[in-house]
Amino acid sequence: MSTPVDATSTPAWAELSALRDAFTPDLRAWFATDAERAERLTFDLAELRVDLSKNLVTDEVFAALVRLAEQTGVAEHYAAMLAGEHINTTEDRAVLHTALRRPKGAEPELVVDGQHIDHDVHEVLDNMAAFANRVRSGEWTGVTGKRVTHVVNIGIGGSDLGPVMVSEALAPYADAGIEARFVSNIDPTDIAQKTADLDPETTLVIVASKTFTTLETLTNARLARDWLWAGLEAAGAIGDDDASRTNAVAHHFAAVSTALDKVGAFGIDTDNAFGFWDWVGGRYSVDSAIGLSLDITLGPDAFADLLAGFHAVDEHVRTTPLDRNVPVLMGLLNVWYSNFLGAQSHAVLPYAQQLHRFAAYLQQLTMESNGKSVRWDGSPVTTTTGEVFWGEPGTNGQHAFYQLIHQGTRLIPADFIAFVNPAYPLTDDGRDVHGLLLANFLAQTKALAFGKTAEEVEAEGTTGPLVAARTFPGNRPTTSIFAPALTPRALGELIALYEHITFTQGVVWGINSFDQWGVELGKQLALQIAPAIEGDEEAVAAQDASTKALLAYYREHRTH
Ligand code: F6P
Repeated sequence: MSTPVDATSTPAWAELSALRDAFTPDLRAWFATDAERAERLTFDLAELRVDLSKNLVTDEVFAALVRLAEQTGVAEHYAAMLAGEHINTTEDRAVLHTALRRPKGAEPELVVDGQHIDHDVHEVLDNMAAFANRVRSGEWTGVTGKRVTHVVNIGIGGSDLGPVMVSEALAPYADAGIEARFVSNIDPTDIAQKTADLDPETTLVIVASKTFTTLETLTNARLARDWLWAGLEAAGAIGDDDASRTNAVAHHFAAVSTALDKVGAFGIDTDNAFGFWDWVGGRYSVDSAIGLSLDITLGPDAFADLLAGFHAVDEHVRTTPLDRNVPVLMGLLNVWYSNFLGAQSHAVLPYAQQLHRFAAYLQQLTMESNGKSVRWDGSPVTTTTGEVFWGEPGTNGQHAFYQLIHQGTRLIPADFIAFVNPAYPLTDDGRDVHGLLLANFLAQTKALAFGKTAEEVEAEGTTGPLVAARTFPGNRPTTSIFAPALTPRALGELIALYEHITFTQGVVWGINSFDQWGVELGKQLALQIAPAIEGDEEAVAAQDASTKALLAYYREHRTH
């Protein structure tokens, strides 16, 4: 692995610093004097229309940002990733989520570290499709011969957030009468509530874990197994002997993991297990077997369309020059905002209720990837990294936090995402309700960009101190992403877009975006503290004063 280029010592960084020092953003003037700005800065990325024109950039800034990408080796690094080089340096692994969506027969064949990647990927996809079709058609039944009505995916992080987000986003495509539920939290409330109204006889549990060692997932998997056995036994469907219980698990449990030996050890029939590989990061895994619940509820055709959407964007990134490469440009804009204009967060605001978990999904993708203080060679980063990603669907956010985006003191770049056609075309008194949603989508980016001057406020009859309160400064940057409809393909494109934005930023910063050592310490300490919760005095004594006091409070108030 190469030594990362220090972005801050490149000529492009110096250029950008000089441009920033003389920078006076004025979107009103830029639009007024440049009739081509909107057209020039609007791009088609597969089915997505991406309008970058309301960002705080001039052509000069864009050109310098593109030079920064050139000087930090973004294209070379992308090629290295696609070729299977071990760019995940701290784990000495290839990073090949892009291989999960290569079409069958793609040329040249991808062989990495001796593995025939294309063959293995499609073998699993075919097995998943066959399994999904059996469940969807009712050929697969539970232990009492009833067809599956509910799938419960047990997983956390990347083994949960992607499947949940896609399941919600594509709910209108769930055409087999099978509902998916998702259990992730080790808070027992999660599994208790999600299974409360389910019938074990018609429930299929999928245990999804890349490592098959995750505390939350294995605990919930055992709780689900107990729930299954207790329910089936109470219904007189099975006895409480080992053979009956093993048979019940074989009919009601499937698994997805890179550690199929551990799946077997848990007691899940490995015929119902689907593998993936260490070169797929958890947060990049929704398009692997981790998507099994989606394959079942949406069907293999929809799942294939989702993958095709991912692939279209991969191809765009691979084949498009940097100055027209949409994910690269968006990643560079994020660098401009966070490293030069001081932004600390980035809002993602879908005007689509179905995307209500999209920001949560992106939080893992972006923040677990780029929340790093060291570079891929172990040296410290040379600039700030990793913004806070957050968001809620519009219009709900408008009635909550948009005030701060419009008139607050912080710079918050925001991505607005909308679809031309609704999943539910309802009308209110003859008026297209989706049209009202889109009017808000357009109105907000316009208000943020162009604001409202004191003169305009006064012209409406306002006087005195209220003028300042009613003035909108404008020059609040937004990107608009528009697509014909929220289809599986469009969703795949959208997810891949953000994967590659994240990648671009990671390369510029010299970060390994594919490890996540920062989650380990808390996991270790939780295991050390667990005996203290149970009352082990030695474990209590080993804690710091604050933790001891909290444990004492816990013991004083515990009633269960
Ligand atoms: O703790 C973080 C993490 O390792 C994520 O990166 C991962 O997606 C999640 O835990 C779940 O891990 P697994 O799929 O191995 O259960």
